[in-house]
Amino acid sequence: QMRNALNKMIDDVAEPEVRAKFETEMDTFFALFRRYLTDKASGTTLDWDHIRSPDHDEVVDYQTLQDANAANLSKLAVLKLNGGLGTSMGCVGPKSVIEVRDGQSFLDLSVRQIEYLNRTFDTDVPLLLMNSFNTDDDTQHLVKKYQGHRIRIRTFNQSRYPRIYKDSLLPVPQSLEDDHDAWYPPGHGDIFESLVSSGELDVLLEQGKEILFVSNGDNLGATVDPKILNHMIETGAEYIMELTDKTRADVKGGTLINYDGTIRLLEIAQVPKEHVEEFKSIKKFKNFNTNNLWINLKAIKRLVEANAIQVEIIPNQKSITVGNMDINVLQLETAVGAAIRHFNGAHGVVVPRSRFLPVKTCSDLMLVKSDLFYLQHGALKMDPSRFGAAPLIKLGSDFKKVSGFQSRIPHMPKILELDHLTVTGNVNFGKGVQLRGTVIIVCNDGQKIDIPNGSILENVVVTGNLSI
Ligand code: UTP
Repeated sequence: QMRNALNKMIDDVAEPEVRAKFETEMDTFFALFRRYLTDKASGTTLDWDHIRSPDHDEVVDYQTLQDANAANLSKLAVLKLNGGLGTSMGCVGPKSVIEVRDGQSFLDLSVRQIEYLNRTFDTDVPLLLMNSFNTDDDTQHLVKKYQGHRIRIRTFNQSRYPRIYKDSLLPVPQSLEDDHDAWYPPGHGDIFESLVSSGELDVLLEQGKEILFVSNGDNLGATVDPKILNHMIETGAEYIMELTDKTRADVKGGTLINYDGTIRLLEIAQVPKEHVEEFKSIKKFKNFNTNNLWINLKAIKRLVEANAIQVEIIPNQKSITVGNMDINVLQLETAVGAAIRHFNGAHGVVVPRSRFLPVKTCSDLMLVKSDLFYLQHGALKMDPSRFGAAPLIKLGSDFKKVSGFQSRIPHMPKILELDHLTVTGNVNFGKGVQLRGTVIIVCNDGQKIDIPNGSILENVVVTGNLSI
């Protein structure tokens, strides 16, 4: 039934070139869908007894890496994953266009990083952006201004697959032109297929590029590190995953394991319920995936052409509105990190936490905008006078959307000496505020708290109306 529905959509496309491209895309989707059905039927879960902590040579400490040779940069290209929307932060466009500092977005700052690299080492590392149909227009608009700069920016689109009805397992779209809601970008695991089908992988190989450094668009700590590049070339590894030590805040992150002698990424969703606590333990699984990945380009081509990248499918359930009904749909996704097991010599490198600065919420955004960090050629560096790790910040639902966050905190408070901040309710910050130690601000329904300009809040709980 699925095949027939897809064929009908393909047959309805008149233009031969568009049709051929659409057909290839739907064929790849169909292979994913079939694999989803077989996996579901066979219930492929990992056997917990076969899982071991990775061997010593499977996870290397960054501190042991040798000094770098800048000449290797000529073999490198950088790719930012840019297919996701900033929906969890309440924005309609790509997350990468959110302003981070000094009027510059994540994307602007990533461009600065590469421009600086190219200038410093007199090299020509290109920046690729993997967009999706959701993010392409806004991204194209933003990168236009970099024409004529010392950086080559290439963009390509990842696949666009049909969402499927959860009950009938039939595709939501009826035709190629059906609106946005009927389709989805199938996760960053789609990078391999899309690099090849877009032709970008061949372009890179023709330019003599050998290695691709991939990272999340919102991670401004993911700078090009020539030492890791060097290590990759010396060891001949086809894939390196940067890991970082777990803290209590990230016990849910995917971790590298040894499974029957091969290296694999283990995600919390694959863990049987009775072992979840063990998975979260910092002792057995010490570090987790930062999604900063170094991947050999020829190996990608070899594996894609052999159709060998078959990673765990993550069925993601969503609710969409069709007519005036809310309907449950599934989108079948894959993750780039899961492909590690297909690459020769693949291993992990445990890097300092500073290479992992994700911005998933406005609480994270507050951190990267604050005085805790300063900008250095587009990279975020933590102020050396900071004592210990970053503070724990919990902003309530009034701060969930970027717009709410920006209007309630128009000027970043100083937080260099902050350990813990909780803010809930109708709270607005003035200018020049300083927060130190543990600060808890709770505004009850129907009330309002305005933190006056220049306030210094140190180890306080503020409720009701504020008077300092
Ligand atoms: P995610 O939405 O997967 O972030 O996007 P996450 O929830 O933190 O999950 P992980 O654990 O980091 O993977 C991570 C990056 O991947 C891009 C997003 O734009 C973001 O930069 N992404 C996501 C794509 O490029 N395509 C997709 O289909 C999904």
